[in-house]
Amino acid sequence: MARFPALLAGLLLLAAAGTSTAELLRVQHRPKDEGSLAFLVIGDWGRKGSHNQSEVADQMGIVGERIGSEFVISTGDNFYENGLTGTDDPAFYQSFVDIYNAPGLQTTWYNVLGNHDYRGDVEAQLSPILRAKDSRWVCFRSAVLNTGLAHFFFVDTTPFEDKYFTHPGKDTYDWSGVLPRDKYLSDLKKDLDLALKESTATWKIVVGHHTIKSMGEHGTTVELMDQIVPILEENKVDFYINGHDHCLQHITSIDSKIQYITSGGGSAAWRGNIKPWSRPEEMKFYYDGQGFLSVQMTKDEASFVFYDVFGEVLYKWAVTKVAKLYSDA
Ligand SMILES: *[C@@H]1O[C@H](CO)[C@@H](O)[C@H](O)[C@H]1NC(C)=O
Repeated sequence: MARFPALLAGLLLLAAAGTSTAELLRVQHRPKDEGSLAFLVIGDWGRKGSHNQSEVADQMGIVGERIGSEFVISTGDNFYENGLTGTDDPAFYQSFVDIYNAPGLQTTWYNVLGNHDYRGDVEAQLSPILRAKDSRWVCFRSAVLNTGLAHFFFVDTTPFEDKYFTHPGKDTYDWSGVLPRDKYLSDLKKDLDLALKESTATWKIVVGHHTIKSMGEHGTTVELMDQIVPILEENKVDFYINGHDHCLQHITSIDSKIQYITSGGGSAAWRGNIKPWSRPEEMKFYYDGQGFLSVQMTKDEASFVFYDVFGEVLYKWAVTKVAKLYSDA
């Protein structure tokens, strides 16, 4: 049932993620207007409407319509507790299709995978069968999304975290397509670095499920701090956007220009497990409850707004691009 077939027109999958080519999947999204971009970011959501998921969805719809949102980015943990059982899992309708049904959300959804998604059938979420059921759905492990003004680099962060391999406890993870892990991670880092180096976009945004800087329950992911942050810093990434901690937060960097943004308030939140951030001057905003993020950009400015479950603005900020006086070359 292709409910919104026209939407696929704006979406062009340029290359398949071949294992032999060691190249990131390239996706092109033509913006409505060359000079600006508007989108929403949500994470950690699929609970069949419970835990305020439906309330957040309704407010996203209102804001999405108001700002002319062109797509939604999902930072992962798309289906709780254990991903999808397969492409026939009714949770796809119960947690996605029937929840995000507002007119303002009828755009492409670019989804990455979270650790809970890896507890189910990963291939099901990546499958074009889901896109045939609802043409908004696009999910990949890692990819580059080119919107002209901004390039988004989606990184599959779950395989980086050691504890899922060394201490899985009672959880089972679907690592098909990831093993051997060392090669998967080293290829991914190489490909990410290369794609960032090739990018001439005004805004470079890296998206992954796991936290890099966070004062929430999971805190810092040391594997990403060690292995991904050097790549982000070297390539002058503007923003790293993640979920995983069920909160909304904004942390800057005193030693680089990278801003770390968590949008993981799609359903269950209010964990109450907040740790002080070691560099208080970097901590700009933390909210422990449900909500989502909107982003509007031009070549000169990116503005961000966090909303709560009632659609009230919790916090907003803007980042300005300083015009380059000299070329880097
Ligand atoms: C839903 O949101 C309201 C308002 O923030 C909050 O008081 C309530 O605890 C939330 N419910 C759940 C289950 O988190």
